[in-house]
Amino acid sequence: MPDPTKKLSFVYFGDAQNDIKSMWSRVIREAYKTVPQVDFMLHAGDLINRHDRDLEWGEWFYAGNYIHSTVPSMMTPGNHEYGTGVVLSPQWRPQFNLPLNGPKGLEETCYVINYTNLKVISLDAEQIDESPHYLEKQKRWLDSALTSDPRKWTAITFHYPVFSTKPNRDNENLRKHFKPIFDQHKVDIILQGHDHAYGRGMVKNVPTGKNVKDASGTVYVVSVSGPKMYDVSADAWMQRRARNTQLFQIITIEDNTLKYQAFTAHGELYDAFDLIKSEKRGNKLVNKVPAVRERL
Ligand SMILES: [Fe+2]
Repeated sequence: MPDPTKKLSFVYFGDAQNDIKSMWSRVIREAYKTVPQVDFMLHAGDLINRHDRDLEWGEWFYAGNYIHSTVPSMMTPGNHEYGTGVVLSPQWRPQFNLPLNGPKGLEETCYVINYTNLKVISLDAEQIDESPHYLEKQKRWLDSALTSDPRKWTAITFHYPVFSTKPNRDNENLRKHFKPIFDQHKVDIILQGHDHAYGRGMVKNVPTGKNVKDASGTVYVVSVSGPKMYDVSADAWMQRRARNTQLFQIITIEDNTLKYQAFTAHGELYDAFDLIKSEKRGNKLVNKVPAVRERL
C-alpha cells in the first residue's frame, strides 16, 4: 500500500509556444535544476505554435532533452495544438503516452491521473470552446471523475483561463459550465495558460471575479513559460500578477499542505503560498509572497 503521506512534487508550465529552443530551454532547465527529484511535469497547453510542424515539436524535445526522458510529463492541448477544423496535432498521440480514460473521442486530451494523494485532470479546452457536444461530454465526465475514487488533493489543468489576466478577454462559457463543478467538488487548484502573463488568485461563487477575494475556495493560476507576452489587467481577482516574465511553478504536496512556488527563468522566487487542507471550512491560504517588486 503506498504511503498516503509521501511527498509529491510537480512542475507546472504555462505556454512555451514560441522560440522554444532559444528562449524556453532555459526555463525547463532551471526548473529541473531547482527540483531534480520532481515526480512529473505538467504543461498547460500551447507547447508549440503551429500544431503540425515537426520543426517546432523538434525544438520542444530538444529544449527538454534528457529531462523529457527522465521525468514523466502530462500535457493538455491548447488552441495551437489544433489546426483548422478542430483537428488535433497529428504528432500529439504518437509522440505522447497519455491516459485513455476520458470521454470517447477525446483520447489523450481529456483524462485523469490518480496519485496516492493527488488527482490530476486534463480537460480539452479547445473542444469545450468549439464543440457543444464535447462541452457536455466533458462536464458529465468531470463530475463523475471527481465523484469516484477521490483523492485528498485535486488539481485540474486546461488551456483557457476561467478568470483572465488579459484585459478584455473573458471565457464566460467555461466559467458558466465548469466553475459550478469545481465549486461543488472543492477542487484545490486550477492550472491554466493562454493569456501570456501571470495571475494568481482565489475566487468563490463570483460570476465575474471582480472586486472579490475569498480565502476559502479554489486557487486559479494563469502562467506563461515561453517568451510571447501580453498585457495584464488590473482585475481584482489576482492577488499576485506579472507581465513580461517567463515563469515556472513548483507544487509540492505533503499530507495536509500544498506548497506552491513560482520562479522566474533566472530561478528567483516570485510568488508563493501554502494551502492548508480543511475539508469542513475550505482550504486556508497562507500567502508567502516574497519581498520582490511586482513585475508590471
Ligand atoms: Fe493559447
